[in-house]
Amino acid sequence: MALNKQPYRGTRDFFPKDKRVRDYLFSVMTKTAESFGYESYDGPLLEEVELYKAKSGEELINEQIYSFTDRGERFVAIRPEMTPTVARMVSQIHRESSKPLRWFSIPNLMRYEKPQRGRVREHWQFNCDVFGAPGRLGEMEILQIAVELFQNYGANCSHFEILLNDRAIVDTVFKLMMKATEEQTYRLYKIVDKAKKITKEALEKMVGEVGLSKDSENIFYSYLQLNSFADVVSFLTTNGHGGISEAFNNFITLTEKAHINEYLKYDPTIVRGLDYYTGIVFEIFDKHPDNRRALCGGGAFANLLQIFNEEPLAGVGLGLGDVTLRDFLEVHNLLPNFDIPKNDVLITFQEDDGLVAALILAQSMRKNNLKIVTSLEALKFKKVFPIAEKKGVRFVTLMGSEELAKNQIQLKNLNTKEQHTLDLNDLEAILKIIKA
Ligand code: HAM
Repeated sequence: MALNKQPYRGTRDFFPKDKRVRDYLFSVMTKTAESFGYESYDGPLLEEVELYKAKSGEELINEQIYSFTDRGERFVAIRPEMTPTVARMVSQIHRESSKPLRWFSIPNLMRYEKPQRGRVREHWQFNCDVFGAPGRLGEMEILQIAVELFQNYGANCSHFEILLNDRAIVDTVFKLMMKATEEQTYRLYKIVDKAKKITKEALEKMVGEVGLSKDSENIFYSYLQLNSFADVVSFLTTNGHGGISEAFNNFITLTEKAHINEYLKYDPTIVRGLDYYTGIVFEIFDKHPDNRRALCGGGAFANLLQIFNEEPLAGVGLGLGDVTLRDFLEVHNLLPNFDIPKNDVLITFQEDDGLVAALILAQSMRKNNLKIVTSLEALKFKKVFPIAEKKGVRFVTLMGSEELAKNQIQLKNLNTKEQHTLDLNDLEAILKIIKA
């Protein structure tokens, strides 16, 4: 039986055209992270399952993780996210490191999900995390990076929005105002996380099953109606929680000063599915109706290092996937065209005995940082230009019998159509034209 040519379900082959797109996406991520002083790191593809069991949440562990027992009886998983790995790595070195630590990475991650638009089983995720930043400046910086990244792809606030919440507020509402127990609070988080994806009846049924008093249920539904930063601030203040309301208001003022406020919107249903978040949480959404998926998610996690018996160290970060990002750029016509590769020169010869001269010329041009494609066989004149187009070159060189006899080449600029006859050995003159 013939083997299947297709990649494993939910994974992708990156043919050169797709790989060029991916390289472009990654290069903008790297440039943006480095422009904020973030340093690149990486970790292993496999981690012990325990690492995710600690705080990543039941959905990830029960439904999404790829796990197996290795030959040494260790229960391991292919990384479904990067945050536990970065926390593990930071826990090894943070004592000796000056803070804040600013790190970024673009790992491939695997989650067993039903493949559909925006959801696959292997995706690459841009991760930026800052550890040990004072106050809420880490949160502000991570949001600034997110905005800057999208701007570097050519997007603005007509294309995307950042929906934001604060888990400290959610905890206050659930535990203090509604008097929910730890277990009820946990269930309410899971309900809120799903609130936008289910019907009103389903929501009411789930809330009813939590076993809250009528008053608490009413508070819960009022909370779900909050629609702006002003709403939430007044809701907390009028219910006697001025302290937390002021802290949140100060953060919003900070985002105004950092010029990112126009992208932000309060949303009570943003709580994030991962259990380690403790403070500000956010998700970035495409405003285009065809692509209403989260492009990016992140937030503050104060206690993740404690799973390694370390002192708490404030962490804040974001994760942004390559699949939803590409959909976003395509739907808004922001993705440059990568149909053909980009090269500088196609070196051709029209007689068989031109091969050696062509190879020598190509070699010396490559040493001058040019991308050179050689034809490897004598090419008839009319075949040169279709090949040049496919290779995306700016120049071609031609060497027919006449040029060969005189030790010359023809150098043609494909944009201006200008053509120069040049001495084959006069590399300086050749390069001057190409680099002009
Ligand atoms: P997350 O919300 O699970 O967060 O994932 C972040 C982003 O990764 C999503 O918004 C989405 O763009 C992309 N993504 C996730 N799963 C898939 C999938 N199956 N297919 C395609 N894209 C996907 C985290 O993973 C956190 N660890 C992020 C973080 C970093 N928080 C702090 N630092």
